[in-house]
Amino acid sequence: MRKPVIAGNWKLFKKTAETADLVNKLVPLVKNNRQVDIIIAPVFTVLSAAKQALSGSAIHLAAQDCYWQEEGAFTGEVSPGMLVDVGCSHVIVGHSERRQYFGETDQAVNCKIKAAVAAGLVVLFCIGETLAEREAGRTFEVLRTQLSGGTAGLTTTELEKIIIAYEPVWAIGTGKTASNEQAQEAHAFIRSEIAGLFGNGPADMVRILYGGSVKPENIKGLMAQKDIDGALVGGASLQADSFAAIANYD
Ligand code: G3H
Repeated sequence: MRKPVIAGNWKLFKKTAETADLVNKLVPLVKNNRQVDIIIAPVFTVLSAAKQALSGSAIHLAAQDCYWQEEGAFTGEVSPGMLVDVGCSHVIVGHSERRQYFGETDQAVNCKIKAAVAAGLVVLFCIGETLAEREAGRTFEVLRTQLSGGTAGLTTTELEKIIIAYEPVWAIGTGKTASNEQAQEAHAFIRSEIAGLFGNGPADMVRILYGGSVKPENIKGLMAQKDIDGALVGGASLQADSFAAIANYD
């Protein structure tokens, strides 16, 4: 009932020519895949080039971040409307690298989510605990705070425009994937929190992705879990073959 999503976060990689090359290789490899929503998130500077290279493909285009103001004296920022203008349909908000290195708070994430949804974007809303938080037994408490902070004041209709990505920080780029059971446990918790905040109907509908060292070798086991609806892929999304193998997992 929930359509799977496989999203590739290219992070700070790929200039214009590399973007066109990767998209050109990826498109034919996933062209028969209609069962999955496939998304790529390149850097801001190549979004237009990516959009052009994606022409005619069903792959969705996402940005990796946005600001919450539509325009104004905010040097260096990019607004949701500007992302729509270059052809984005999705945007990642609250990635742990934004939280860790750029001091992004739950309140900022909340403002970004509201502005992005108002502009017509679908948001990939990232949450996840650090290793220290997991080891201190604080995983659920952290997820609860990030979820309630990020979604504060959202209506049920706005929630429909949100895809949640659970990314344990200790599994990102480390080669350490959460076990299927650890991931499922966190996803089930997230769904139950959403039920508490928005009701059972919205909780059943919301798609929850897992992120953290997802590879062609572990995607099937993750996707077999009841509450895992897809993946947010970093490193393995930078090669067409591995990203296509993940998207075509079934
Ligand atoms: O947004 C993607 C995540 O940070 C996962 O990255 O697949 O390289 O671990 P990774």
